[in-house]
Amino acid sequence: MGPRTIVIFGATGDLTRRKLIPALVGLNARQALEGVRIVGVSRRERSDETFVASLREAIPEARREDFDALAPRIHYRAADLTSPDAMAALERSLCELEGEDGGRLYYFSTSPSLFELATNHLAAVGATAEDKGFRRFVYEKPFGTDLPSARALNAAILKHLREDQVFRIDHYLGKETVQNILGLRFHNAIFEPLWNRHHVELVQITMAEPLGMEGRGDFYDPTGALRDVVQNHMLQMLALTAMEAPATLDPEAVRDQKVRVLRALRIPDRENVARDSVRAQYVGGEGAYLDEPGVAKGSTTETYVALRAYVDNWRWSGVPFLLRHGKRLKAKHTEIQVQFRTAPIQLFNRPPGLSDAELRRLLDDGSLCQLRPNVLSIRLQPSPAIGLSFGVKRPGSQMTMTPAQLDFDYDEHFGGSAPPAYEPLFEDALEGDPTLFLRADEIEASWRFVDAFRAGWDAGAAPVVNYESGSWGPSEADRLFQGCEGTWRP
Ligand code: BG6
Repeated sequence: MGPRTIVIFGATGDLTRRKLIPALVGLNARQALEGVRIVGVSRRERSDETFVASLREAIPEARREDFDALAPRIHYRAADLTSPDAMAALERSLCELEGEDGGRLYYFSTSPSLFELATNHLAAVGATAEDKGFRRFVYEKPFGTDLPSARALNAAILKHLREDQVFRIDHYLGKETVQNILGLRFHNAIFEPLWNRHHVELVQITMAEPLGMEGRGDFYDPTGALRDVVQNHMLQMLALTAMEAPATLDPEAVRDQKVRVLRALRIPDRENVARDSVRAQYVGGEGAYLDEPGVAKGSTTETYVALRAYVDNWRWSGVPFLLRHGKRLKAKHTEIQVQFRTAPIQLFNRPPGLSDAELRRLLDDGSLCQLRPNVLSIRLQPSPAIGLSFGVKRPGSQMTMTPAQLDFDYDEHFGGSAPPAYEPLFEDALEGDPTLFLRADEIEASWRFVDAFRAGWDAGAAPVVNYESGSWGPSEADRLFQGCEGTWRP
């Protein structure tokens, strides 16, 4: 590979410091960044040295040596992305710094309101043309705030760029365990025959976070949980869980299958929004949402959302996909659970002479395993794992079945943790592989689905309820299980 430059817009922001630079440091330590220089761009004037020193501060002590190995290749340029002159000057300065032809990856880690304008300016100064090497453009989320704005943004950037130059980020796709959903499903033949409406009763996807706003109230308040993570991370997890097998691992083959699922999501009307969604805001405990800096007085923004979604296709017709996400919940926990239908006949655990009430009590406290569904769980966070719950005979003269669990722990098995999500994403963008990035049609199909919930809410459906911070969310979310066996886990 020839020389390459990564230009990071929004270089003094939190994401650059906390995620992007550490990912580049990690890649460099694995010798995956040879010949690559990094240029941070932001509005304020500062020297390369000051910039590097500010990045270094955010690097944990144990990684400082790795950071220092990359530091001589980190530069800084000041530029106002809204000014055509400044972008022309930046282009000249980059060419001077590079001194020879090479590829360039522009990374927009800025406010999304700048994506279109800055791309226009870059195109105007010839920075989108590929005569000296590749020119690729990575856009951070959120990509639009609804379907019309996402469409308009896609149309605007695609005036200057080919689709294969555009890399729309959803960092969840960079997580090992998310990628492994495909591996687990399509490398192992045992799942396919069961992976459909005949055998799956419901699918649960949980993304729980203990953190609150962490100083992001200004961004979050006009955004809310639905737009912040359901539209992207959660629908991507759903798409990977529900999609058909691609014929090959060609990026378009994979993305075609994902978009088919997203397009098959049932679009709810107002009545269905009221029935199939719960939105809530945290109060009390470790602090209330309304007390967070940047949050408007009396805001009704949801910090928790639970939805019942349906994928209306041949494979999944009638199977509820229950999605749940919240801030300030009890623990960090991201997990997909596929719950299979129970055995058709109750052969075991029917102690003679037991009243229905006694039987129910033994079931509830877990002493008896009766018609418990098998659940395949794919845990992404905190510790990646795959588990399968099933029933086994308790040793003894009685034929008593009891719950058991098979667990596979990634870190334990592979000895150490997987590289953070942004590492493979940078690597793929540098190589021009778009598989782990979102195509315009995926983003638009996702917005179409979440916009329908938003519209129902705006019309008064599913009014916001409260939940205690540090809890697992509002009890109202339990009603989404109506019609099927099950509870939120954990
Ligand atoms: C981001 C959201 O996209 O994902 C944040 O904007 C959220 O609100 C974060 O906290 C969660 O990412 P992760 O990788 O920590 O689960």
